[in-house]
Amino acid sequence: MRQAPQDMLRLAERLATAAAEVTRLQSGRIAASRKPDDTVVTTVDHAIQQRIVDAIRGEFPDHGIIAEESAALDEPLPDAAKARFVWVIDPLDGTRNFAAGLPCFATAIAVLDRGEPIVGVIYEHNLGLLYSASTGEGAECDGRPIRATADAEYHDHLVGIPSSKDDFAVGVLRAWAPKKGVIFRSLGSASVHLALVASGSMSAALGIQAKIWDVAAGAVLVREAGGRITAPDGRDLTPFDLTADPNHNIPFLAGSAKAHPYFLDTVRGISGRD
Ligand code: IPD
Ligand code: CA
Ligand code: CA
Repeated sequence: MRQAPQDMLRLAERLATAAAEVTRLQSGRIAASRKPDDTVVTTVDHAIQQRIVDAIRGEFPDHGIIAEESAALDEPLPDAAKARFVWVIDPLDGTRNFAAGLPCFATAIAVLDRGEPIVGVIYEHNLGLLYSASTGEGAECDGRPIRATADAEYHDHLVGIPSSKDDFAVGVLRAWAPKKGVIFRSLGSASVHLALVASGSMSAALGIQAKIWDVAAGAVLVREAGGRITAPDGRDLTPFDLTADPNHNIPFLAGSAKAHPYFLDTVRGISGRD
């Protein structure tokens, strides 16, 4: 049976790109429903997820799968903690944008090897940009190498900030606001923020209520592009604990090699967990 990361990368690229065939059929505001945690979901999230899960089951039947909308699947997923390779799927990252007709959303697919992300693919549907990376092979956007090189030497720092408004998020934004050249951006998709850090458009990105499917693919991209991604207190973000509830929050701070320490210093003071 094939177990080469490059085979997994190629499948992830194909599936993430094909997800746009589903969103392309929609336009304007899309009917959404609320999940028990009050977040929104659409039938399009479900349709994309079903296609991706079916394809992975067909090609890699012994791999585990963690998918954001798994409650809506035809068949329950096997226990991911038992498999060596685990796929992590966010069928649509930026569902609120999608439902509102705001054109910024992505499909994110990662593969973990014993909890460590080794393959990461993020496809932004509206711009048609495919970001992909695998450990040791570098990061690309549409086949061209990308680097997490944004720094404020000649430009302002564009910093991706979370949509969450909890005390920690507000505290971090208050601390960063006076920093010279720091410009906030909140695009409504954590994966898109991470892809933009990897490609050098954003200097850094912060996530607070991120889940494993928001961060796993972007982590490979940022690292392979020469950037850093850690927990906001500087602790290691990976390997992910696959025995934990997949819905637990995985806060992150990502940035270029220069920007990450610059922003980490302030966040550490606020989290108080240095
Ligand atoms: C959300 C987006 C958002 C982030 C939230 C995520 P979803 O994902 O990435 O930017 O702030 O924490 O849950 O629900 O659109 O897949
Ligand atoms: Ca998401
Ligand atoms: Ca989602």
